[in-house]
Amino acid sequence: MMKNYKTRILSNQEIAPDYYRMKILAPGFGQHARPGQFVMFRVQRSMPPLLRRPFGVFRTGFLPADCDGMPEKEYLEILYKVVGHGTAIMRELHSGDAVEVLGPLGRGFEPGDPQREKILVGGGIGLVPLFMLAEDRVKESPVRLLMGGRTRDDILVVTEFERLGVETYVSTDDGSLGEEGFVTQMLERKLRKYPDAEVYCCGPLPMISAVNTICAAQNVPLQVSLEALMACGVGACLGCVVKGAGHTEEHPRYLCTCKAGPVFHAAELDWHALGTPAADSCEGCKS
Ligand SMILES: Cc1cc2nc3c(=O)[nH]c(=O)nc-3n(C[C@H](O)[C@H](O)[C@H](O)COP(=O)(O)OP(=O)(O)OC[C@H]3O[C@@H](n4cnc5c(N)ncnc54)[C@H](O)[C@@H]3O)c2cc1C
Ligand code: FES
Repeated sequence: MMKNYKTRILSNQEIAPDYYRMKILAPGFGQHARPGQFVMFRVQRSMPPLLRRPFGVFRTGFLPADCDGMPEKEYLEILYKVVGHGTAIMRELHSGDAVEVLGPLGRGFEPGDPQREKILVGGGIGLVPLFMLAEDRVKESPVRLLMGGRTRDDILVVTEFERLGVETYVSTDDGSLGEEGFVTQMLERKLRKYPDAEVYCCGPLPMISAVNTICAAQNVPLQVSLEALMACGVGACLGCVVKGAGHTEEHPRYLCTCKAGPVFHAAELDWHALGTPAADSCEGCKS
């Protein structure tokens, strides 16, 4: 159930250059959040940027009770990369600062067939929504994570997946960590070994498209988590629409990434149109 949490930050730590993890006090959030869902985070109230920013839910949990008798605190955690104005403000926030978070939002990952291997493919910060999925799926099926980044600095929290019992494989474009090359090369090899696997993917669009091409060629079920510019996060502004499979001028089929997604079955999307604006975005989406 979606709720607007007027709450405060518990911690905000740099984990690699330009990457941060933030724990936010959120009583009751965990019982509603599903793997792959996201929150809209209001950076600040009165000054630009006025719009909330979308972030995947990395995990939920409880901080232990304090020794001075304070009860345990339920939190949600996000992992973010500083890319612009809003995230630059976020990196300056501290424990105790007041924030607003709307969520959990959107359609998350479907669990798939428990009899089949799961291969999770993450690119850079795209790893975020895969953690709760791994946590959930590893109880029933073998889970393997293929994680790609430009350099070693883009490879985050892989050991936390390993602690769940997930087998992890890393590639970097420059070879500074793991195998040199693209994560898609690893995927092709793994699918030769585990042809019955189901694939789940989140990362930059070129990577997702390449993963879709590989999976489509082998009839491998694929779910992808898409990123889009989002102004409202709840289906009201139409700033985040993408074209669905079968879209034509005569029979338009638009999907809001925030409500119909951000997770889609690959077959639901018009892959040729992805990456080009699906409709005129509202001006508000840009501030
Ligand atoms: C469902 C969803 C989940 C997301 N989860 C995460 C996450 O877990 N961690 C994380 O770091 N980021 C995540 N993002 C992306 C994040 O929302 C943007 O990086 C953030 O809004 C940038 O805000 P800003 O004000 O710093 O950047 P701006 O100043 O608004 O923009 C800086 C640059 O980033 C680009 N940009 C901004 N937002 C997006 C976007 N949504 N998609 C693609 N490019 C964008 C802009 O075009 C511009 O080039 C997610 C996005 C979506 C839609
Ligand atoms: S962000 Fe407004 S409709 Fe999706």
